[in-house]
Amino acid sequence: MTIQENIPLAPLTTLQVGGKARYFAELKREDEVREAAQFAKTRDLPLFVLGGGSNLVVADSGWPGLVLRIAIGGITSSNANDGKAVLFSVGAGVNWDDFVAQAVVQNCAGVECLSGIPGSVGGTPVQNVGAYGQEVANTIESVRALDLKDDRTVVLPKPACGFRYRASIFNTTERGRYIILRVNYRLKRGGAPSLKYADLQEQFPDRKAPPSLAEVREAVRAIRRSKGMLIVPGDDDCRSAGSFFKNPVLGDAEFKALAERAAAKGLEIPSYPALHAQRKVSAAWLVEHSGFSKGYAAGAAGISHKHALALINRGDAKASDIVGLKDAIQKGVQEAWNILLEPEPVFVGF
Ligand code: EPU
Repeated sequence: MTIQENIPLAPLTTLQVGGKARYFAELKREDEVREAAQFAKTRDLPLFVLGGGSNLVVADSGWPGLVLRIAIGGITSSNANDGKAVLFSVGAGVNWDDFVAQAVVQNCAGVECLSGIPGSVGGTPVQNVGAYGQEVANTIESVRALDLKDDRTVVLPKPACGFRYRASIFNTTERGRYIILRVNYRLKRGGAPSLKYADLQEQFPDRKAPPSLAEVREAVRAIRRSKGMLIVPGDDDCRSAGSFFKNPVLGDAEFKALAERAAAKGLEIPSYPALHAQRKVSAAWLVEHSGFSKGYAAGAAGISHKHALALINRGDAKASDIVGLKDAIQKGVQEAWNILLEPEPVFVGF
């Protein structure tokens, strides 16, 4: 294991802002992760774990401690006892979309709607990655992790992970406690693709036979490309951290108040049913109806031309530019709609 010093973090993230890591190590094996964690512990250095860097805003001052980049690879699969499922054990450092591609090639259903999402496998349980009606909580069987509190490797079964919309114990109650090493998924062999969202159904008009997993994968990638949510080298709209705000989940009364506010302006806000009789409303719509259009520019920061939820680095933005725009959008939405949008990315070193 090699510990490097003063390594710029911006190039390791999709948003490409922020300063340096005081110490940095890239780790391919579990024992190296343990060794690096020990290095930080004995020197009392704050630890940050970096995966694919697709959901991060790094502060301009960087990270004063040790940044670990988890590069543990390997995808293995085995048949489950019931003969219907295939169990995949995937290294935390594997590129997420590479795993999805392999699952589809092996004719296994359960992650096809999550095609084209940037980042690494180890990041997916943290924020319970989801799109087009699937989320990893549906297919994760267990998570193998280094428990920094008890200094041992543990396997957390799904119920212990506390999955909710864009949340788990890893980004809430137990934040900072675990370093994810591998994720185990249970996929359905020969299963039908999931076609829950209208956006996706519209890709298959007048179809008698259901599309294949591979066709759904391509359709999802096409939608994501059109929304700037697929990383295309050279496209400025892709220099982002994906959706910058969560879709607010509102109770009955709150939703009613919002819908009435919209109706008074002659508008209707897109919304979807959520758990416990709540409603999830579109954050992108709120942003666009608060004076921030697609393509909005605020110096070097801006909003994607293709999706109002993606804040972008227009070239040489600093983290402070992005945060300034985030603050302005939150203020605008609060004033127009009385809703505080909650950011989705992880803020590092703020
Ligand atoms: N909309 C707008 N303006 C826009 C884009 C969308 O008003 O610029 C409205 C439209 O009415 C649209 C609705 O918002 O019907 C929903 O938009 P979209 O289908 O693009 O999904 P989203 O709610 O904005 C969520 C996830 C995405 C995921 C998509 C697809 C969150 C915060 N975002 O976005 O995840 O890919 O659904 O399922 O839940 C991410 O988390 O980084 C991410 C990209």
